Amino acid sequence: MNPEIYSLFDEPHADNEYTYRHNIGVGIIATYLGMKLGLSKENLSALTLAAMLHDVGKTRISDNIVEKPGKLNEAEYEDMKRHAIYGYELLKNIPGIPPSIALTALQHHEREDGQGYPQGKSGKDINLHAKIVAIADVFHAMSSSSGYAVL
Ligand SMILES: [Fe+2]
Repeated sequence: MNPEIYSLFDEPHADNEYTYRHNIGVGIIATYLGMKLGLSKENLSALTLAAMLHDVGKTRISDNIVEKPGKLNEAEYEDMKRHAIYGYELLKNIPGIPPSIALTALQHHEREDGQGYPQGKSGKDINLHAKIVAIADVFHAMSSSSGYAVL
């Protein structure tokens, strides 16, 4: 595994305790789901990394938006949605990591019925790791007391 990747763990608003806990929590939940699905060891370790880095693109979004308490307005929400593409761009050129890691950053807000973003992909067109991380992302957010919304 490319050691460069580990520096990315500290990036996503590491000063924000909830964000930090969320990334670890999503990593654990996604790994558990992957185990239940019977993924191979190699596939599982790629999934864990993909899960922990799924929101790395938020480092390219203004803190005023990422940390805003309460609801985002329409323009802010449009900005926030770009974190999926930014994450993909950050991760896709790192040599030696499985392609699902960048794809998970890109597709973790896609939804089975095509109602997600950024590309409105559906069903089989969404990477399996991205689907697992989407579930883990929502589950962790719903079961935490911070009032965090999945964006
Ligand atoms: Fe996200």
